[in-house]
Amino acid sequence: MQKISKIAVLTSGGDAPGMNPCIRAVVRTAIYNGLKVVGVRQGYKGLIENDMYEMDKRSVSNILNLGGTILKTARCLPFKEDEGMVTAYQHLKEHGIDALVVIGGDGTFTGALRFSKKYPDIAVIGVPGTIDNDLCGSTYTLGFDTATNTVIEAIDKIRDTADAHDRLFFIEVMGRDSGAIALRAGISCGAEAILLPEKQTAIDDLIRNLKDGSSNKKSSSIVIVAEGDKNGGVYDVAKAVQKEVKDYDIKVTILGHLQRGGSPSSFDRILGSRLGYAAVNALIAGETQKMVGLQANHILLTSLEEALNHHEFKLEADLLEMVDILSI
Ligand code: F6P
Repeated sequence: MQKISKIAVLTSGGDAPGMNPCIRAVVRTAIYNGLKVVGVRQGYKGLIENDMYEMDKRSVSNILNLGGTILKTARCLPFKEDEGMVTAYQHLKEHGIDALVVIGGDGTFTGALRFSKKYPDIAVIGVPGTIDNDLCGSTYTLGFDTATNTVIEAIDKIRDTADAHDRLFFIEVMGRDSGAIALRAGISCGAEAILLPEKQTAIDDLIRNLKDGSSNKKSSSIVIVAEGDKNGGVYDVAKAVQKEVKDYDIKVTILGHLQRGGSPSSFDRILGSRLGYAAVNALIAGETQKMVGLQANHILLTSLEEALNHHEFKLEADLLEMVDILSI
């Protein structure tokens, strides 16, 4: 078993509330176990640019409540190339780093897995940190709970206006490949329809559903459209519906990046702490190329390959089933 002595931690891809509690847990668990910890700024970009600094237990004080990530993050194209990986590896070696904790989503894990296969002497553990909740092996990813609550708060406010004016609102939420936020927020806010990348909704069916609602004396309607829905985007959907549903005044709201910010919820603070703690313990136990995740309220390991297996990932069938029934 490879014995580790110095861990690097980074956050990569889209920021997610809960990343800071996770960084704190990684740093303090490592120090508690006599390991050194290095923080890498801006994810893989920082590895390539040699932008890293030694962290101590006070360097993560008072960050539990902060959104974003104190390490900063980036989407780094050069890390996809061999040249970028070679440079990153050299920098890690120069610092005497023998293990890496990467906090991020599918893009982050894809990079981590490739890197780790190329350089198996650096142990790698992934922490699922993305508001998209689209990784296998963790029922929840860091940031999903906070982001969904942020979306719910915004939609509740829009519902007040929709109701006051008898309007139909189309609201776009994040999720390029994932309808997780749309589905949860939609059920929580009583959306009349939810359009998701995982399930094709025919515009004709949507129109029929909205017309039924109107003849059933609904004073307002909300349709949530996930960013990755295949009908061409929220404005196209709204335009197609407006042509057929004349008696509603239609408005469009794109919630955008406000969904990623904000202080992490209690759930995300605990999850971040548990996952960070488990990630370091997994490295100490000699694990590599694995993700720590939450399954039935236990923290378990899944291979990074399995975590990235999108074909196996499914939204909850009962939630999908109840959308139309609960909004009649
Ligand atoms: O991966 C998280 C996410 O918020 C997606 O839901 C969204 O499609 C994407 O990031 C947006 O990324 P960026 O902030 O780089 O535009």
